[in-house]
Amino acid sequence: MQSLIDEIAERAREVIGRGKVADYIPALAQIPSRKFGMAICGVEGGEYVTGDADETFSIQSISKVFTLILALQTIGSTALWKRVGREPSGNAFNSLVQLESEQGLPRNPFINAGAIVVTDAITAHSVSPILQLLGLVRRFSGTEQIYIDEVVARSEAEHGHRNAAIAHLLKSQGNLKARVEDVLAAYYRQCAIAMTCRDLARAFLPLANGGKQYETGEKLLTPLRAKRINSLLLTCGLYDGVGNFAFRVGLPAKSGVGGGIVAIIPGKYAICVWSPELDELGNSLAGTRALELFARKTRLSVF
Ligand code: DON
Repeated sequence: MQSLIDEIAERAREVIGRGKVADYIPALAQIPSRKFGMAICGVEGGEYVTGDADETFSIQSISKVFTLILALQTIGSTALWKRVGREPSGNAFNSLVQLESEQGLPRNPFINAGAIVVTDAITAHSVSPILQLLGLVRRFSGTEQIYIDEVVARSEAEHGHRNAAIAHLLKSQGNLKARVEDVLAAYYRQCAIAMTCRDLARAFLPLANGGKQYETGEKLLTPLRAKRINSLLLTCGLYDGVGNFAFRVGLPAKSGVGGGIVAIIPGKYAICVWSPELDELGNSLAGTRALELFARKTRLSVF
């Protein structure tokens, strides 16, 4: 496995230079584009890393999986799924168009509109939603080192006009309970969580493992909830790039504009790759390439 991922890292790095690092906030635009890390955590305990796997990066939309889990725990699945759909959007992650035509019911919890409703579900029920979220991420990843990069969070807030527009639209449509300012503040801070590939592979292992924590075996999710989240990742985890990703890789996964992608091989592994250059849809270019090579070489996919 170690020599396999070292080789994959070398080949995936070949596409660096063809994408573009997220530049909507200065804190992300400054990340060196040649970074590449990969970590694999196995249900039977093995762990393999290569490249910059122990360097922290901005997890961005990958945080939407953690907030979904917390919201399901907070208000329950029946209440949450009345407010958010479970269909791919076929639109950019930050699009407003569908929200207007579909009367404030976001297509899924991973596009920004859906994620803002999910964050609202937590914010409306907690005095410190972000502390609760950090607690969950620390439990899942087994490390207390997880933190929020406040520079990124402030920058997100300063440049967050589109997210603010989405939140206000949702409020006007009756699908936001807490104050818009509070929901946005929580949303920007969740996007600014900093983690390493190793942390993320560990934190996502419960999705490969019927809900069990990577180290202690503690049950963090029911097998049914783990299965359902994987299904949502497969159909909605990479926005309007999800079909092509399923074609090339064939695994449930979640991406973020920080360049991270986490993929699940049910019953076997959680894998995190990080490379900051993105394709035109906002998904890591070399990260996608690495996962494609991994799935092809190991013949591991859900199909
Ligand atoms: O809200 C935003 O637009 C960003 N903070 C996060 C977007 C993101 O990561 C989308 N992922 N590909």
